[in-house]
Amino acid sequence: MSAFTPEQVKVLEAWTKEYPYPVMGLIEALRQVQDWHRCVTDADEEYLAKLFSLPRTRIHEVATFFPAFTQRPTGRHRIGVCQGLSCSLAGAEHACRCLEKKLGVRAGETTPDGRFSFERMECLGACDQGPALIVNDELKGAATEELIEKLTEELR
Ligand code: FES
Repeated sequence: MSAFTPEQVKVLEAWTKEYPYPVMGLIEALRQVQDWHRCVTDADEEYLAKLFSLPRTRIHEVATFFPAFTQRPTGRHRIGVCQGLSCSLAGAEHACRCLEKKLGVRAGETTPDGRFSFERMECLGACDQGPALIVNDELKGAATEELIEKLTEELR
C-alpha cells in the first residue's frame, strides 16, 4: 500500500515527466516527500525506485547524500546551524548552545511536541553571514542570541 494520497501520487508522477530524463526530477520528488513525511523512509525510497524505474540503491544514495533529506522524521521547523570553518570562527558553538538551551534538545533531536528539530550542518554557502542559521531550508542570517530568541518565539 502506498504511503501517499492519490493527489500526492499525481505530484510525484509529474516529477517523472518534468525533465527530458526522469531521474532529473528525483531531487524534487525527494524534496516533496521530505516535506510531506518530514523524512524519506525506506518505504518511500522503495516507492520512488519503482516510480522512477531506478535501483533502490540509487534512490538511497541520493536521499542520504543531501542533508536536506532525513531518514528519521524532523520537527515541523527544522533549524540548522552551520559548523563550517567560517561559521565556527564566527561563534557557531555558542549559537548551538543557545539553541539547545532554548529548545531543550541536543543537536540531532526533536522537541517532544514535534515542533522543532535542531541540527548541526555543513557549509550552507552563506559564509559571510556566520554563524549561518537556516529554518526549513531558508537562510535566516547570523545566529545571534536575538535571532534565536525571535525565531523560536515566532515559530511556536
Ligand atoms: S562555513 Fe558556514 S556557511 Fe559556509
